[in-house]
Amino acid sequence: MFDELNSRPADSLLALIKAFQADDRPGKIDLGVGVYRDSMGRTPVMRAVKAAEQFLLETQDSKKYLGPEGDLQFVRLLQPIIFGKSPTFAQRLVGIQTPGGSGALRLGAELIQAANPSAKVLLGTPSWPNHAPIFSSARLPVEEYAFVDLMSQQVKFESVVAALSSAREGDVVLLHGCCHNPTGIDFTMEQWRQITEILVAHRLIPFIDLAYQGLGDGLEQDAAPTRMILEAVDEALIAYSCDKNFGLYRERVGALYVMTRNEDALRKAESNIAALARVNWSMPPDHGAAVVRTILESEEMSAMWRAELEEMCLRVNGNRAALADAALDLAFISRQRGLFSNLSMSKETAAALRARHGIYMADSGRMNLAGMQPADADAIVVALRAEGCLKSSTVA
Ligand SMILES: Cc1ncc(COP(=O)(O)O)c(C=O)c1O
Repeated sequence: MFDELNSRPADSLLALIKAFQADDRPGKIDLGVGVYRDSMGRTPVMRAVKAAEQFLLETQDSKKYLGPEGDLQFVRLLQPIIFGKSPTFAQRLVGIQTPGGSGALRLGAELIQAANPSAKVLLGTPSWPNHAPIFSSARLPVEEYAFVDLMSQQVKFESVVAALSSAREGDVVLLHGCCHNPTGIDFTMEQWRQITEILVAHRLIPFIDLAYQGLGDGLEQDAAPTRMILEAVDEALIAYSCDKNFGLYRERVGALYVMTRNEDALRKAESNIAALARVNWSMPPDHGAAVVRTILESEEMSAMWRAELEEMCLRVNGNRAALADAALDLAFISRQRGLFSNLSMSKETAAALRARHGIYMADSGRMNLAGMQPADADAIVVALRAEGCLKSSTVA
């Protein structure tokens, strides 16, 4: 039976990790893998997470099943962070714990497939490479449109408007809530306002992927576009990940929220997401969500988490500023947000940056700004210039 399978390509980022480890040059710089790194190059367990784990170790007295919804107190405590304190949102939302943001996207895709199998999913490109396959493997047609021009590092806003305006009522629009992966290019609030108008006018359903809240401009600012859209539309889905902003990656911590103004539809969505979770993973893993809940239940641990997240955010934005200061051609990097920026380059150039300069980034030209130190900026600029990635020879 398995002989009938086609082989699939290995994940190229995993090969990049191996190549970086095997490189023994002292000045090598890893801008490849998509996780946060501190000034020592580590991806540490956050202090608030350690404190919560210690508390759980001492107090947790059972590992009995929680049910397909997972830890509902975790789901509830995240709500004010994502949606703000307005009580009206709370009445229009149902949520469920999922294995990471990926699980939330998959569950949301299956809910859409159950509710309206003819809905198309509109996806701006480039995007996180897993987006399109998650939706198409849930048997939803994905329609891609150009979202940015990497040469100019500008949003192709006319292309966004044209794609959304030609969608049919009930089609789904996948939107990165903040810190766009891979480009770091987020819409301005004015562009978000125009997108919201189109969503409302064409009765489209936004599916907001919020995987990096707090790593762009801070928790509140990063949630502003999501909140503005939810004020305006009748129905929406939100896939949330705690894996980056709590540094819990491998614990797989996320949530799916479904918003509708129709009470009956809300109850139906609630029973459907629970049933769909049950046949996928039965119940989500507990530990990471229990850690997040423990942090959010404690004023002291919450304050510790917020301060650490702010530190992470400042570090990434500091690295952005250092690169922008090192070359005029890279000024755009300081205007972008989140872990990533995507330079326009061929995969041959990305390979040359690795081979000749020890600078590792994805073949697509995506670079993780958390992988560098401010002092690396000059070496990165020298390498980019040597490989013809920068037009001007001017230092900012
Ligand atoms: C844009 C985006 N959405 C969702 C996810 C999924 O995150 P998780 O690790 O929580 O599944 C990622 C992870 O890299 C991402 O970049």
